[in-house]
Amino acid sequence: MRLVSLAMITEEMVLAQPIYYADNLILKEGVTNLNRFTKRLKSLGIDLVYIYDEISDGIEIPDVISNETRATCKRVLQDTVDRFLVEDSMDGEGIVNVADCVIREILQNKDVQLNLNDISSADEYTLAHSVSTTVYALVIAKELNYNKSLMNKLAIGALLHDVGKVALDRNIVFKPDRLTDEEYKHVQLHAQKGYEILKKCNEITELSRIIALTHHERINGAGYPKGLQGSEIHQFSKIVAIADVYDALTSERCYRKKWPAHRAADYLVENTEGQFDVELVSIFLKQIALFPNGSMVQLSNGDIALVERQNKNMPLRPVVRVFQKGNGNKVKPYHVNLMEDLSITILQSELELQDGKNNLA
Ligand SMILES: [Fe+2]
Ligand SMILES: [Fe+2]
Repeated sequence: MRLVSLAMITEEMVLAQPIYYADNLILKEGVTNLNRFTKRLKSLGIDLVYIYDEISDGIEIPDVISNETRATCKRVLQDTVDRFLVEDSMDGEGIVNVADCVIREILQNKDVQLNLNDISSADEYTLAHSVSTTVYALVIAKELNYNKSLMNKLAIGALLHDVGKVALDRNIVFKPDRLTDEEYKHVQLHAQKGYEILKKCNEITELSRIIALTHHERINGAGYPKGLQGSEIHQFSKIVAIADVYDALTSERCYRKKWPAHRAADYLVENTEGQFDVELVSIFLKQIALFPNGSMVQLSNGDIALVERQNKNMPLRPVVRVFQKGNGNKVKPYHVNLMEDLSITILQSELELQDGKNNLA
């Protein structure tokens, strides 16, 4: 299995994972002749799909939580917000239950590297972002040996960290272009608004609400709404800040393409000083597959390969499957373990390749 952009779909590819849009099944797993549907998918804002093809045969892309759990989380989040908008009070029971579910799966799949975030359309970004941010935050919490009760409070706060956006002007929140200074100030209100909304919910504790209020605070005091510094910021919010930024960078947005995992990781490292907690960033980065399974990479010798599996604690050196030589000739796929052949490195990843920097078939 591998992930490809619609532009790269060819006749022999078979859909490897069902595609949902706004909770509706659009295409079932196993659908063939995918080129028939590219126009429709594009119009829904879906650019990437999981496919089976010969060169990716046998490659698995494990996820720390199941597709079903991701879908349930998104549905419960949507229901909770919809009810809030009608009744002006929040029923947190559903959120408490899905948070439990996510925690259980993450603890069960403890050896899985974080391969990919949810491949949703840009339109579904808010829901998918809330769930992915929660997964990333919980993976850090697991490494910190949080107990179940703390994990639960962290998960609830992370699921609802951006809930305050429902109280803002939709035209500004979903504006596809760059925001003006005034519009950016308006969006910043979501932190305070979110805290106030969560105060209306008895099932949600103050510790979870604090995440909504302070997830945009930064260690150096340059964040908002209060400009808190260092130890004034709760560890929950420091964790969610990292998860939040990483997911935003690696997601497809209406105004920019998603970044590959290794580039988002570089961004976190470069901005750690001052913005993020150094120790938490380093814990998080150890859990990410910088070149995820199934992604296409170019090696330093020019060869093109698919990432086959991860080597534990060696995120830059996975096992790859070479299928095309540097001169463009296709070859019978063969494995190279980059941990054994140290003369070869990964030059660039799938998304950079798909952006047209290379002319690949
Ligand atoms: Fe936010
Ligand atoms: Fe966010």
